[in-house]
Order: sequence, then C-alpha cells, then structure tokens
Amino acid sequence: MRRPLIAGNWKMNLSRSEAAALAEAIAKQVDQYPAVDIAVCPPFVYLEVVSRAIAGSRVALGAQNLYPEPSGAFTGEISPLMLCDLGCRYVILGHSERRQWLGETDGFINKKVHAALKAGLQPIVCLGEQLAEREAGLTLEVIRRQFEGSLASLTAEQMLQTVIAYEPVWAIGTGRVATPHQAEEVHLELRKLIAQRYNPEIAQQVVIQYGGSVKPDNAQELFAQPDIDGALVGGASLKADQFLGIVAGMKK
Ligand code: PGA
Repeated sequence: MRRPLIAGNWKMNLSRSEAAALAEAIAKQVDQYPAVDIAVCPPFVYLEVVSRAIAGSRVALGAQNLYPEPSGAFTGEISPLMLCDLGCRYVILGHSERRQWLGETDGFINKKVHAALKAGLQPIVCLGEQLAEREAGLTLEVIRRQFEGSLASLTAEQMLQTVIAYEPVWAIGTGRVATPHQAEEVHLELRKLIAQRYNPEIAQQVVIQYGGSVKPDNAQELFAQPDIDGALVGGASLKADQFLGIVAGMKK
C-alpha cells in the first residue's frame, strides 16, 4: 500500500533561527499523524540545523536540489553524497522554478534523478504544464514528455523509490489550486504511463503528490481523490499550523 507523503518545500525562505523553530514546531506534533509520511525541505544552508531540530521525530529531511556528480570541480554545487552525509532522505528535482529560471531540461533532471537514486536518496520529481499548455489542451502531452524525459531509464526498483509531484505551473504560488478533478486526471495518466512502462502493480505503488497552492482548506478534497498521495507544499509549509492543517486533511 502507498503511504501518503506531505513535504514542505521552503524554497529560498526563512532565517536560520526561523528554520529551526519551524522544524521543531512540526516535529513536536507529527506523532498525531502516524499514517502520513512527513518531510521538510529547507535551503541547503539550513539542512544541518533543521536536521538537529527534527532528530528523533518522524519528520524526514529533504533538499531542494543537487548536482549530479559525487564530488569535484563544480563551484557552488552540492553533491548527493553531501546530502546523505547531512541525513537527507529526499531531494526535490525538476521543480518548475528551476526549469523556468535556471534552464533545467528533462535530460539534466534525469541525470540528477539517477545520481540521487545511486546515492540512496529518494527523488521527488516535479512535473506540470504551464497555463498556455493547459489552455491549448496539451496538458497530458506535456506530462507524458516530462515523464519520459525526466524519468528515463529507471529500473522498476528505482521507480518505486521515486516520488512524482504533479505541479501545474499556473497553480504554484498563485492561490489558484487545480480542481480535484483536474489533478486526479493527471495522476491517473501518470499511473497509466508507469503501468505501460513497468506493470500495473508498480503503478499502484508509486507515490504521486499534488503541488500548487495546497492549503488547509483545500487539502482534504484533493486528498480524497484515489490517486493523490499527499502534497508538495510551498507557501503554506512556512507556518507550522498551516502545514499541519494540511497534514490533518489526509484521512485516507
Ligand atoms: P505553493 O508551491 O504551495 O506555494 O503553490 C508549491 C511548490 O512550488 O512546490
């Protein structure tokens, strides 16, 4: 059975002490939600302080990016091994902000996914269409292209270690959440793509999150969809009560 995962993507926010306080506040309350896996993904520079704040709790640590080499002359970059060294379990890859502002392609994201898996990290691989693509009726085509490109050449075992986050770009940070029906349609398509490439059993086991303006008041109806396994949360993950309010929406 799939266990839902709710992960906070803190993006480029918070001070060091705010990061520690937020992580502590979340860690204190997660025992109320034993059926949900929970992760926080702070900026690199706060991974260590957050790791201390969540020590001994069920909250897992995630990073927001990596460079797909174990070490070497890559000024300013962070390797998968460094993330493991700091206790990370997850790493967000292919976020639309990185695709858009840092020019990341499916090919480069795929390299990162393989590097993460090789190091024992679980990648949370983001994909999603832009507004113009949805309006042109291209959503499922874009999803298929990103799935094939970003998740190319994974073994079945690697696919099972990978989390997919469906994040329509027009819903990220806009307050304009996808309807449960819009989200479910894409999640179902992703399961079909996994079933075609591997088999239906594997498709049933892969965790597929929704992301884009998830808040406590819309989480429950999204999570009620059969193929939505939790959320990747941006803005609302920066406040413990909001983040935990979303976690509380996961009843299945
Ligand atoms: P949002 O961000 O919840 O602020 O829309 C989601 C994300 O970018 O992962």
